[in-house]
Amino acid sequence: MKEQIIKNFKEIFGDGGEIRVFFAPGRVNLIGEHTDYNGGHVFPCALTIGTYGAVRLREDRVLRFYSGNFQENGILTGSLEDLECKGSGEWTRYVKAVIASFGEHGFITPVGFDFYCLGTIPNGSGLSSSASLEILVSKMLTVLFGFDVNMIDASIYSQYAENRYVGVNCGIMDQFAIAMGKKDSAIFLDTSDLKYEYVPVRLDGIRIVIGNTNKKRGLGDSKYNERRAECESALAQLQGICTVQALGELDESSFEAVSDAIKDPVILKRARHAVYENLRTVRAVSALNNNDIKAFGELMNQSHISLRDDYEVTGKELDTLVEAAWAQEGVLGSRMTGAGFGGCTVSLVKDECVDQFIENVGRLYKEKIGYAADFYVVDIGDGPQEL
Ligand code: GLA
Repeated sequence: MKEQIIKNFKEIFGDGGEIRVFFAPGRVNLIGEHTDYNGGHVFPCALTIGTYGAVRLREDRVLRFYSGNFQENGILTGSLEDLECKGSGEWTRYVKAVIASFGEHGFITPVGFDFYCLGTIPNGSGLSSSASLEILVSKMLTVLFGFDVNMIDASIYSQYAENRYVGVNCGIMDQFAIAMGKKDSAIFLDTSDLKYEYVPVRLDGIRIVIGNTNKKRGLGDSKYNERRAECESALAQLQGICTVQALGELDESSFEAVSDAIKDPVILKRARHAVYENLRTVRAVSALNNNDIKAFGELMNQSHISLRDDYEVTGKELDTLVEAAWAQEGVLGSRMTGAGFGGCTVSLVKDECVDQFIENVGRLYKEKIGYAADFYVVDIGDGPQEL
């Protein structure tokens, strides 16, 4: 792949100079959805698909960009003098936002560069193509300019880039999962203090199958920020009667004891999801540690039901894919993954049933929705690296 990326780079930007190539993965979250901005737990893993980038430093302050995924845009240009990118729809805003965020944290990019990138993650599918690009750029900047930034800080700066410069109030999960990814392990992350643990995902005879609804969404135009605000409102109402810093601190009984303080039934449902999803995630990880994949799968199913009924972030495309998956032989669990409102599902499927699963779920989806879903049988990969 490296040679191919360098070849593509040269075709666009010409020969000469030192060209360096980097890779950052995408991610899939196995369980723990919409918990990361509520101080709860998440359980994502990095994928072997992701974003490749080739870069050559310049002597001036110009930035030139080309994406193999958006060839129709041709070469886009920018400058280190102007890194504000709110409102811009171009993919380059993620690159500029990370440069700007690093700068704000004291790591100033000294010269411009030419940058070619190619993603193997379907855009807008909920597998974090944007966080993958952000972490790719973070890795690139730290290596090229010798910044003393570890990958956890890089994930924090990238999340800040997205919050402050892109305008999406996302939590830390995606950037952290990608920056800290480890082959064949998922990351059990407590978002309240960023303590984490690698959990080997030993799925003997079971594959992780991602189903893409092909319903495009961007976090910016989704109800993501609205959900976040609803959780903040729930927390504020609870703080009127008890001491609690985040919904993720509550267990069932402490939540049920105070939940009457939340008067609006919709806000109450949102809070209930945040609290119970966090508890499900903790339970799912101990089930996995006990090699109880069946229990893990059941918790995945419950997660989807809660995201559908209480958090209301699924929609007919995701529900159709998941409900069709539940009806198939050899399926241990299936749920939406990522922000929701479209994007992807994740299912655990017995090896020998995967082909039939894809065929049947694909057919049922097309019959009901009118267009096809895509499926990827994925592997868990490492974090970002120079190739
Ligand atoms: C998006 C956000 C994450 C997280 C998920 C939902 O992927 O970027 O921070 O909130 O949605 O779990």
